[in-house]
Amino acid sequence: MTALITVSDDLTFALSNAHLSYVFRVSAEGILEHLHFGGALSDPLNVAVHHRRTIRHVASTFQGGKHYSLSDTPQEYPGFGTSDYRFPAVHGRNAHGNTIFSLHYKKHKIVKEKPRLKKLPSARGGESETLIITLQDRLHKLRVELYYTIWADHGVIARSAKFRNLGKQEIQLQHAFSSALDLPSGDYEIQHFHGTWAREFNEERIDLPQGRFVSDSARGTSSAAHNPYVAVLQKGATEDYGKCYGTTLLYSGNFAISVEKGEFEDARVLAGINPFNFHWRLKPGKNFCTPEALHAYSGEGLRKLSHHWHRFIRACVTPERFRDVPRPTYLNTWEAAYFDVDEDKVLDLADKAVEIGVDMLVLDDGWFEGRQDDTTSLGDWRADKARFPSGIPALAAKVKAKGLKFGIWFEPEMVNPRSQLFEKHPDWILHVPDRVSSLGRNQLTLDLSRSDVQDYLYNEIDAILSCGDVDYVKWDMNRNMTEVGSAALPRNRQRETSHRYMLGLYKLLDRLTTAYPDVLFENCASGGNRFDLGMLSYMPQGWISDMCDPIARLSIIGGASHLFPLDVTAAYIGPSPNHQNGRVTSVKTRFMAGVFCAARGVSLSEADIETHKDEVIDYMAFAKATADDMIGGTFDRVKKTANEVAWQYTTRDGSTIYLAYFHILSAPNLPFRRAHLVGLDPSADYHLEDSDENYRGDALMQSGMPMPQVAVGEKTPGVRYMDDGDFSSHLFVFRRADG
Ligand code: DGJ
Repeated sequence: MTALITVSDDLTFALSNAHLSYVFRVSAEGILEHLHFGGALSDPLNVAVHHRRTIRHVASTFQGGKHYSLSDTPQEYPGFGTSDYRFPAVHGRNAHGNTIFSLHYKKHKIVKEKPRLKKLPSARGGESETLIITLQDRLHKLRVELYYTIWADHGVIARSAKFRNLGKQEIQLQHAFSSALDLPSGDYEIQHFHGTWAREFNEERIDLPQGRFVSDSARGTSSAAHNPYVAVLQKGATEDYGKCYGTTLLYSGNFAISVEKGEFEDARVLAGINPFNFHWRLKPGKNFCTPEALHAYSGEGLRKLSHHWHRFIRACVTPERFRDVPRPTYLNTWEAAYFDVDEDKVLDLADKAVEIGVDMLVLDDGWFEGRQDDTTSLGDWRADKARFPSGIPALAAKVKAKGLKFGIWFEPEMVNPRSQLFEKHPDWILHVPDRVSSLGRNQLTLDLSRSDVQDYLYNEIDAILSCGDVDYVKWDMNRNMTEVGSAALPRNRQRETSHRYMLGLYKLLDRLTTAYPDVLFENCASGGNRFDLGMLSYMPQGWISDMCDPIARLSIIGGASHLFPLDVTAAYIGPSPNHQNGRVTSVKTRFMAGVFCAARGVSLSEADIETHKDEVIDYMAFAKATADDMIGGTFDRVKKTANEVAWQYTTRDGSTIYLAYFHILSAPNLPFRRAHLVGLDPSADYHLEDSDENYRGDALMQSGMPMPQVAVGEKTPGVRYMDDGDFSSHLFVFRRADG
């Protein structure tokens, strides 16, 4: 392998592969100066250094350095108060009571084996190299190690920082960002994804304003309000044009990704733990590790940026055990029966699952002691004796005897005030003294920073999983955190609780997924309230939204697809009228919206299944037959207008191309529309299934494919129609002739 990281004698560092180069140097003053992040360079150590300004007024010059101000110097890990006035990556209180730190280069090393972060999820190494730069504040003996990893095969780099207090006095950290990226002056836009429950992943694009744009969370979860993903785009970037810089985090708690347009039009990207309400006491001799940040680069628009993320997440983030494993089709009891579940009903639904040909029955909420609605019982993870007299292991065995897999729902991090657990351990919740704890969905959050809480949860879940008949766990989490404090921490460490919670959660997930490597875990937080790479490090898939209306789901999946491969998503055919927005749609379109999700299923009552049985059987047979296709392929957004969406999915061997077209509202006398496919072999022939049509790859890409018309009245021969009126969909399947 050719070196991915090179260093010059005068300390310029270059991380470079076929997709990108990342270059920085040590200045004469000992400051790490950023030089380039972008397209791959053939001679990356030789990039022009930015100017130093010679005549300026008002500017401060850096600690004795003539003509040198940090305000206009792109840096790798900026601090505050030594001539840079922008928001800093590192900020804290030292033994003198002030907040001035000055980090200077001390040494570096390169390692071939990517170090795993202690207590935090981190991307797997593989064919990669990691550069570790040590910076130090000489006065207060604060050492910071910056970690940079580049992979041979990915358009992504990883960064994190590790603090060590080498002094004799405590240092209090307030900003401890994982990464800082000072992009040069330019005309930029920001792309980010915001939302709320059942309306996750709305894409917003705005011109980078003067000042600071912040996407963050202080809710204890990474949140549906602002997903921890922000891309800085060359203004006007499209799917296939423009420089794009994406940033995300392997972290599931309070985060911040900010982009600051400075007085000289540069763009500073900071990513890490949200500094708001964060405070960490770093005792002498102690370390603090930040979560890992990831930056991806595409010089050819958003499509390529998404491809980089998708390949990287599959190869380096989600559990390897499930990487190439087709997901089971399933029937989930939630929208079929809600809390009205008992052993007989579950077994009846299992029979229905067999009739419609799915692989797995998932018992969602409602199975544990006293849980007949959402006011009670979270925390008491034993089967309700009246409704499940045989217990879960026996039920699981009965379901499996029908030839199905068995899955079960938990919401481990929560407790209802009405529960045996809360009665016994009222101090196990996140809370602050002498204040009433706010409820969310009638529940409180357990204090996962505590090892006794972690052990309790491990033992409760283990008691069920150890029967050996559980194939899948849906791990839910249905509230944001309030009154965040821990009875197990002293007064002066209360503001560490949120991050300690995450460390506790990751520890518990690590223990469980290590003990049960073959159990497929699905991450859920009222849908997408914690849909991030931190959770995906332990759980190969996630429930992206409680919104199952297919039209609403188009923007949710389309938005999420900018970062996430659809391998990590699950989708089911839910009821119509939809229970969240009342929209009536066909079974076909309800299935189609999730057609490219790896895990596909049904959550319908027995009566609904009966009404639509033939269609449901057909779609589940299709889902089963294509389960292997929906792993590891390439997803592309090929059309998006106010009224249409088209997505393309190409199987990993390139032999089959699926093109899903959605037409939202019908209207008379519409224009003829086309979709242009992407990434085909221009000289290969593709056969359109269920037709006698064959097209050359270049024709499908350059000339495009006519989209079906919404059928109204008499049909013209030779025209392809969709029969649903509003909310129509159509799936094209092209097979490569020599495939
Ligand atoms: C919220 C989840 O998102 C739903 O799918 C379902 O599991 C409910 N919780 C159960 O309470």
